[in-house]
Amino acid sequence: MNFSLTDSQLAIQHRARDFAQTRVAPIAREMDERGSMPLDLVREMGALGLLGGPLPKEYGGEAWDAVSLALCYEELGRVDSSVRGFMTVHTSLVSQCILAWGTDEQKKSILPKLARGEWIGCYCLTEPNAGSDAASMETTAVQDGDSFVLNGEKIWITNGGVADIAIVFASADRSLKHKGICAFLVETNTPGFNREKMPGHELGHRASDHASIQFENMRVPQSALLGKAGEGFKVAMSALDHGRLGVSAGALGVAQACLDASVAFARARRQFGQRIGDFEMIQAVIANMAADVDAARMLVYRAAWLKDTGARVTRETSIAKLFATEAAVRAASEAVLLHGGRGYSNEYPVERYYRDIKGLQIYEGTSHIQRIVIARDVIGKEN
Ligand code: CAA
Repeated sequence: MNFSLTDSQLAIQHRARDFAQTRVAPIAREMDERGSMPLDLVREMGALGLLGGPLPKEYGGEAWDAVSLALCYEELGRVDSSVRGFMTVHTSLVSQCILAWGTDEQKKSILPKLARGEWIGCYCLTEPNAGSDAASMETTAVQDGDSFVLNGEKIWITNGGVADIAIVFASADRSLKHKGICAFLVETNTPGFNREKMPGHELGHRASDHASIQFENMRVPQSALLGKAGEGFKVAMSALDHGRLGVSAGALGVAQACLDASVAFARARRQFGQRIGDFEMIQAVIANMAADVDAARMLVYRAAWLKDTGARVTRETSIAKLFATEAAVRAASEAVLLHGGRGYSNEYPVERYYRDIKGLQIYEGTSHIQRIVIARDVIGKEN
């Protein structure tokens, strides 16, 4: 077993860290307060080679391995979950999904634009009545000659308000349940594609763009199908294998950021005549956090490393997402407490980590759903 990173992985980690620390960290609080991220950051990430990282060179990428991509998400997650979340949807749920399922024509025409950040991608699965039970979606796709007509509603679509291209899931035959679902590549300027901001004010991830999207007699050509008709659920689930690894790496970044902030505070803050880090109760908190961060890192890197061997890593990815997000929830909660009154204010970033991390435990499959995926694989089907 070799736990060290290669030179190329280290170079990617440093590139992502440099961008995160110099370009994102200084504006993270302002983005959170304003409720949006500047789209200039997207172009910069494209120009730096981050957005297309895992794509082959012919589509504008750098053919990163999965460990490198996880390192990039970890560095972004250490600084800001909204920017990391933007990239996970754009690169993992959308670009990697098109790479896996697209025709040559679809890949050639769409992936270079996504790699450059010239186009933004979103992934439209969740509906008002189909969240965890994604296969029960109510959006319909009716074949009409050589096109499909889509009607329905999607909610909580990250990047949905700013996206140029959407992967849209709809059922061509609801009686077939998941086997009736189709995936479509839809340009968001298609007539009948209507979007608006999600109502309400999110707990965290406030700089993310979350949209509600309505399809009203939206006509798309047969050539918009991603994968074959009826394969849409597999397209969706395989995309989530990419996305969930990204979320778990982002959660690892949040946990690391909580540890870094707690250690710095425990060294600097003095009470009762000594550093608070010299009290055993504080030491126990920091030791638990450090152990959690290490365990999360091992699980995230293990899933990424296994993915690079070509294996299907659904179970390992769900284990990584479950553990890393829950470890980061614990770390953020303890970090706020350890900072005392200061942790309760956005003067210190732990307050934002605490609000943001709850989202990672929910989207791309809640912790409950990850437990279902893991348990089904561990116990197996009845013969
Ligand atoms: N890769 C490929 N195929 C897969 C797969 C995977 N990871 N997981 C399942 N499948 C296949 C199965 O093999 C099965 O195929 P067959 O019919 O050929 O046997 C088929 O899909 C159906 O699988 P299940 O019977 O397991 O399906 P289910 O209806 O019981 O659902 C579930 C399983 C795990 C609960 C799934 O519905 C799920 O993951 N739900 C959560 C959805 C989710 O994560 N939503 C978040 C959306 S994205 C988001 O958060 C917002 C955003 O903007 C990004």
